Amino acid sequence: MSTMYRYALPVELTEWKFDGAVETRFTWEYDDERQGLLALYDKGKKQQWDAALRIDWSQDLDPENPMMLDDRLIPIYGSAIWDRLTDKEKVQVRHHQQASTISQFMHGEQGALIATAKIVQSVPDLDSKFYAATQVMDEARHVEAYSRLLHEKFELAYPITPGLKALLENGLSDNRWDMTYLTMQVLIEGLALAAFQRLRDFAGNPLAAAVNAYVMQDEARHVAFGRLALRDYYPELSDAERDEREAFVVEACYHMRDRFNQWEVWERLGLPAEECVQVLMASDTMKQFRTRLFSRIVPTVKDIGLWGPRVQKAFEDMGVLSFGEIDAQAMLDNDGRVAEAFDAKKRVADVIGSAAAD
Ligand SMILES: [Fe+2]
Ligand SMILES: [Fe+2]
Repeated sequence: MSTMYRYALPVELTEWKFDGAVETRFTWEYDDERQGLLALYDKGKKQQWDAALRIDWSQDLDPENPMMLDDRLIPIYGSAIWDRLTDKEKVQVRHHQQASTISQFMHGEQGALIATAKIVQSVPDLDSKFYAATQVMDEARHVEAYSRLLHEKFELAYPITPGLKALLENGLSDNRWDMTYLTMQVLIEGLALAAFQRLRDFAGNPLAAAVNAYVMQDEARHVAFGRLALRDYYPELSDAERDEREAFVVEACYHMRDRFNQWEVWERLGLPAEECVQVLMASDTMKQFRTRLFSRIVPTVKDIGLWGPRVQKAFEDMGVLSFGEIDAQAMLDNDGRVAEAFDAKKRVADVIGSAAAD
């Protein structure tokens, strides 16, 4: 059934167009290759998978709580608004809130698909073009998997939020190739990895957990690609050029922290949206959760050398500076192992210890 019939809110247009200025670059150097990037390309080729086959789509979601998530993960849980809801209304909140989350994953994945195609076109070196080509296929598969989950299982979808839309438009209308990487591979995918991880590790529903585990296996490679490419490039920039990137990182991180509040869901369900967002901003559990969303971004930003005083001050203000100490590569390696554990139907904790569920 057409997505237009699945949207919980009216969507006026079926497409979104803007001028994503892009410079097209060919290279005539076919033999100047960086081993790190080529190794990732090789991994990208070997780890291709088919979403229709690797995932068991005969499994269903739970009618009362689709992905079987703990209610404490609902931003308004425990508030006066939540306590006033009947059991039937709580079921509706779970359904809509979870469908809205997966919908933003789906739209974000389409952003990644477009961004990666743009990287193939605009990045100067052949090794990066090769790698990005494998990522284009990965992102198509991610759109397919989340879309299928929404259409066939949730039977509900939400339009893209203004916050995600603004971030995508900003990153995709800059014609400098590194800005596409920075927006997509470091910031949006970094945030997404933390959000996917929460579902992979805490969803009691095996279908929802598996979709996220497999997508994460690919995303871990994507973030590694962004790190490798930018770590080589940023030291070559002037202080002023680096400073511009740092200002962008700070602005985007505040944007993601403050504007991703599921306003549309509260409004659609007839709840007092402003009050819901106030609850969400004030609750300690939600503060902790929003902090953890940056656990994947901070170490990568540090690693690629955008670690000037402006960035450190902002991360300190957001309470996320200590994530800079995390071993980013170890986390990414774990993501690959967990996906393999899903294939073998083993318990995640048995494969990588309790760290996976932190
Ligand atoms: Fe993706
Ligand atoms: Fe990705």
